[in-house]
Amino acid sequence: MRLQLSADPGLPGHEGSPRTPPHDGEAAAREDRLDAAVRRRWDRIDWTRPIPPEALVIPEAHYMDVAGLGLTERQRVAINRLFACFTCELFIHFEGYVIRYLERSAHRAPYLSAPVVARFVAEERTHAEMFRRLLHRLRPDLYPTDAAPPRFLRWGRGDDAALRLAPAGTFFLLAWYFEEITLFVPRAIEARPDQSAALVAEIMALHAREEAPHVAIDERVLLHLNERCPRWLAAIQTALALPFLVYVDGVVGDAWRRLVASAGSELGLDAAQRRRLGARAPTQSDRWGTESFTRKLEGRGLAGARPLCWALRRALRTDPA
Ligand SMILES: [Fe+2]
Ligand SMILES: [Fe+2]
Repeated sequence: MRLQLSADPGLPGHEGSPRTPPHDGEAAAREDRLDAAVRRRWDRIDWTRPIPPEALVIPEAHYMDVAGLGLTERQRVAINRLFACFTCELFIHFEGYVIRYLERSAHRAPYLSAPVVARFVAEERTHAEMFRRLLHRLRPDLYPTDAAPPRFLRWGRGDDAALRLAPAGTFFLLAWYFEEITLFVPRAIEARPDQSAALVAEIMALHAREEAPHVAIDERVLLHLNERCPRWLAAIQTALALPFLVYVDGVVGDAWRRLVASAGSELGLDAAQRRRLGARAPTQSDRWGTESFTRKLEGRGLAGARPLCWALRRALRTDPA
């Protein structure tokens, strides 16, 4: 089966010129200009808006049945803020995957042009910076500056190893999946504006708008790779997404345990409450993003897509609710 590719000025084969490494100073200046252009969009956000300390900042149902935890009103608000922090850290961590992979290994996806890679990296760098800024607004005691380190998701050697080992066809598949999920966070927020802080809602909406082109790039790189390599090889790269997903799920699971420990001691949760909080479930955006991703993946005829989609749907259905 031949995949249908449409013209994309951002992908080689359409622009024709090979990537040439620019002079260091010139590259740095171009990088600065790109960063500044991306940051301007984010600077339009009114960051001075207060986040009321007694209010929820992100819909509870996005994460779990919070009512079942049996919390006081004060604990409910506090746990909600920790959930929002966890989401910010998750995004920063995943953006780290994209930034590091593209900086080190973009040559493994020769169909990506240098300007596209540069813009992609600049946007992810800015996103990570903005989520750090949001963390500081949400919990200045935990994140004392705009550049404070994460509390729950720590970058480890396993992350570096995973990035080195991931073939391009596997990496872009996973990037597509994770970025697809982020597109659905605003939907969760729009469903419960009464449980959302305006600043959080605006940041998540702008982030999703900037992620949509990333999803399109990931998809097109995958289609090119599928077109250019033998189907059996493409199927292997698709299948390899599963062990990487298991690894990433382990990283996120460890981080969630840190969140439970932190919330447990901060809020004085009892053993039963900690146990219930520890039963991490897929978020609403995980479920909606998976539905959308698997539908698209199967529709494109990518090698090895069916078993992967089956496994993803099954994993999301059988995770603890
Ligand atoms: Fe991002
Ligand atoms: Fe992205």
